[in-house]
Amino acid sequence: MLHKVKSKIYKKRRGSILIQNKIYTIIGHKGYGKTTLTEKLAILTDKPTIILDPRFQYEENIRRLVFTSVSKFHKFITKRDNYKLFMKHKLELVVNTIDEAEELAETIFKMKNITFVIDEIDMFFDTRTDKKSYFNKLVQYGRHNRIDIITTSRRPANISRNLTALTDIFIFSRLREPNDKKYIKALLDSSYAEMIADLNKFEFLRIEDEKKEIIKTTEKDLQILS
Ligand SMILES: Nc1ncnc2c1ncn2[C@@H]1O[C@H](COP(=O)(O)OP(=O)(O)OP(=O)(O)O)[C@@H](O)[C@H]1O
Ligand SMILES: [Mg+2]
Repeated sequence: MLHKVKSKIYKKRRGSILIQNKIYTIIGHKGYGKTTLTEKLAILTDKPTIILDPRFQYEENIRRLVFTSVSKFHKFITKRDNYKLFMKHKLELVVNTIDEAEELAETIFKMKNITFVIDEIDMFFDTRTDKKSYFNKLVQYGRHNRIDIITTSRRPANISRNLTALTDIFIFSRLREPNDKKYIKALLDSSYAEMIADLNKFEFLRIEDEKKEIIKTTEKDLQILS
């Protein structure tokens, strides 16, 4: 399957960044390449992937199926043969929903060894989300079921503290708004805020523990992902 071939290409070139059972929090401005980077990271986790996509950013392709509701997704995934296909070929299943996000999180919480991408996470899960919600449970206990979680958001201020506290890898694209800078200073420190303000388009600051590095997506990534 094409997806497998693509995974191999990425792994060969960038084997060192294959990291599993982690929470990635990607924060950055509109149009600065978050979704593209997310697509790439999802492949690098090398797992079947479910994508909660409220803004229709993930198009169907050879390795990806799109469902316009959680019930349609359920109908598919509860058929044994489909589930096997999903796991075996490491497919990507995209679900377009806002209202049923918590139901989707409940289903994902029962699954194992997958990647869960949540695009624009502050649309579902923010500072006010119930502690008992499945989003919170996933963030807290997902790693026990070997679930990687990749989230994106445009504005940091609304992101759940529970999510940021449990994030393993932060990835920022350029942020220059005073409020965003203030947030980064409080979350990390002021030197990070300056580095993040200086990033170019499609460039990101990746922070994992004490380690920080600039990463980029390229035209070549776009070709592989298309
Ligand atoms: N490395 C790159 N080089 C050239 N073009 C890119 C690169 N990364 C992304 N793009 C293009 O830039 C546009 C915006 O990228 P993308 O959708 O990933 O950004 P985003 O941060 O998710 O935006 P939004 O906040 O609107 O969701 C897309 O048309 C995408 O194809
Ligand atoms: Mg996007």
